[in-house]
Amino acid sequence: MKVLAINLSLIISLSNLLQIESLSHAGSECGAQLVESIPIGLTYNSTIISKPTFDGLIGLVSSANSSIEIASLYWTLQGSDVMPHPDNSSLEGTKLLNALIDSSKSRSVKIRIAVNEGNLSDNSTDLALLKGLAQIREVNFNRLLGAGVLHTKFFIIDNKHLYIGSANMDWRSLTQVKELGIVLNDCQTLANDLSKIFEVYWYLGVENSTIPKQWPQELATDFNATNPLSISMNQTDYSVYLSSSPKPFCPFGRTNDIDAILSIIENADKFIDIAVMDYFPIFLYQKNTHFWPLIDNALKSAVIDRKVSVRLLASHWNHTRESMPIFLHSLAAFNDKKLFGATIEVKLFVVPAFTPFQASIPFARVNHNKYMVTDKTAYIGTSNWSADYFVNTGGVGFAITSKNNTSAEHNLRDDLQSIFQRDWDSSYAKYI
Ligand SMILES: *[C@@H]1O[C@H](CO)[C@@H](O)[C@H](O)[C@H]1NC(C)=O
Ligand SMILES: *[C@@H]1O[C@H](CO)[C@@H](O)[C@H](O)[C@H]1NC(C)=O
Ligand SMILES: *[C@@H]1O[C@H](CO)[C@@H](O)[C@H](O)[C@H]1NC(C)=O
Ligand SMILES: *[C@@H]1O[C@H](CO)[C@@H](O)[C@H](O)[C@H]1NC(C)=O
Ligand SMILES: *[C@@H]1O[C@H](CO)[C@@H](O)[C@H](O)[C@H]1NC(C)=O
Ligand SMILES: *[C@@H]1O[C@H](CO)[C@@H](O)[C@H](O)[C@H]1NC(C)=O
Ligand SMILES: *[C@@H]1O[C@H](CO)[C@@H](O)[C@H](O)[C@H]1NC(C)=O
Ligand SMILES: *[C@@H]1O[C@H](CO)[C@@H](O)[C@H](O)[C@H]1NC(C)=O
Ligand SMILES: *[C@@H]1O[C@H](CO)[C@@H](O)[C@H](O)[C@H]1NC(C)=O
Ligand SMILES: *[C@@H]1O[C@H](CO)[C@@H](O)[C@H](O)[C@H]1NC(C)=O
Ligand SMILES: *[C@@H]1O[C@H](CO)[C@@H](O)[C@H](O)[C@H]1NC(C)=O
Ligand SMILES: *[C@@H]1O[C@H](CO)[C@@H](O)[C@H](O)[C@H]1NC(C)=O
Repeated sequence: MKVLAINLSLIISLSNLLQIESLSHAGSECGAQLVESIPIGLTYNSTIISKPTFDGLIGLVSSANSSIEIASLYWTLQGSDVMPHPDNSSLEGTKLLNALIDSSKSRSVKIRIAVNEGNLSDNSTDLALLKGLAQIREVNFNRLLGAGVLHTKFFIIDNKHLYIGSANMDWRSLTQVKELGIVLNDCQTLANDLSKIFEVYWYLGVENSTIPKQWPQELATDFNATNPLSISMNQTDYSVYLSSSPKPFCPFGRTNDIDAILSIIENADKFIDIAVMDYFPIFLYQKNTHFWPLIDNALKSAVIDRKVSVRLLASHWNHTRESMPIFLHSLAAFNDKKLFGATIEVKLFVVPAFTPFQASIPFARVNHNKYMVTDKTAYIGTSNWSADYFVNTGGVGFAITSKNNTSAEHNLRDDLQSIFQRDWDSSYAKYI
């Protein structure tokens, strides 16, 4: 599924971007909703139930009138892509795939898909079905960077609605894996900014392309951690920006994903709650293990230097690497308020298999969440927290801070905090 160099198409998409940019530059009114996939059988003693990821994504796709852009790691939306005898929990995935096919066939929606290049993409029956209906480009990280994958997951609909979150284009991500993301509606300026990240993947998906020494000015962003975009939702004003990794994929102005995470940690005054599947202050995928303590240092500094308490909810499943508990214990050693004035607490979340069928699904039944919420900011990402993900792997982050500062106000940060608290208090989470 190789794509020949089509520089003209890049130029055309860039001029589209420019048009959009001139339309709206100031703050805009958006709608937002957190979306979650709760694996079948998981129950909570809590009334906090978010909209399902499936409902969010199918709503976006089936309402699209003109364009859909998707950044993805791999495609296994059909049950048979994963196992010979899937149960009906794969139906949602098939429905999402059919909605995409339908949007192209019956509404002539222009679909562009950026996907990681690898055998999973070459063999994907989903992508085979979309061939001819969607433009598909594969991004080859081995060629571009010598390592890594396109691990990003996002949707852009009609240049104004978007999804960012942990869910893969995989039926398991809709029913058998725990996922968290956000859908933003009528958010043209932010969608335009996300398009600039998509255009980077699109450019690099051209056969034999290389990373330019300098990205074109059209892909530069005005919005970043130090100069966020103002949007308002439900009478509340927010500052938002999108971060991206790896650094060579960041045109001028774009905050690197790791810098976003570090600055959110550094700006917290009271607490930092983190839900991330895997946490390793090392390079996992290099021949020789290297220590990479950027996040580890920032968390310990938050506790020691600023008395900010940290709670980390990592995930455990049958594929968890042996060394992860060692790194987590090193953080949990700071669970001593008397000595430090604040604490680091660490729990592991386990998604049980309640039936033999659930246990038989490969690489399912896991908490795949990747987000952080502090007393100021909510951050939703697509990366595990190990060095590789920030140094040579494609990922994005969405950071949002409420500008209003009243205790009465209810905002997105509160919603994310409630989700974290629900998971932290549940019987699926246990202290390490
Ligand atoms: C905005 O208000 C609507 C209606 O009350 C509600 O459904 C929605 O969840 C709110 N959105 C946010 C981001 O608080
Ligand atoms: C598509 O157009 C219809 C009719 O104008 C509108 O109701 C709908 O919201 C549009 N879809 C999107 C994704 O904007
Ligand atoms: C899926 O199958 C289970 C039992 O195998 C059944 O209880 C459930 O209603 C089915 N769900 C759907 C959406 O068909
Ligand atoms: C795909 O599979 C072939 C043979 O199984 C292997 O040689 C090749 O390295 C794989 N390519 C990728 C990108 O994984
Ligand atoms: C892809 O298909 C080839 C040939 O059909 C097969 O040899 C290979 O194992 C498949 N790779 C994956 C990752 O499924
Ligand atoms: C890409 O590189 C390969 C190997 O050098 C070459 O055979 C192929 O023609 C190149 N493709 C394009 C579109 O330049
Ligand atoms: C938030 O602040 C804006 C002005 O900055 C104001 O218009 C709005 O009413 C405030 N919202 C709340 C809920 O206080
Ligand atoms: C952030 O954006 C501002 C204004 O667009 C720009 O001046 C600044 O250099 C950007 N920061 C980074 C780190 O790129
Ligand atoms: C993990 O492995 C154990 C032992 O093989 C098995 O009993 C359990 O069901 C597996 N868990 C999941 C979620 O598949
Ligand atoms: C990180 O997350 C992905 C899915 O997003 C998962 O499949 C992978 O195994 C994780 N862990 C590591 C150590 O890469
Ligand atoms: C809210 O106001 C308090 C007291 O004025 C201040 O300490 C705090 O930093 C403010 N928070 C934000 C998010 O602006
Ligand atoms: C719900 O509460 C009951 C009774 O306190 C407890 O046994 C159960 O483990 C709780 N379930 C979850 C998912 O926390």
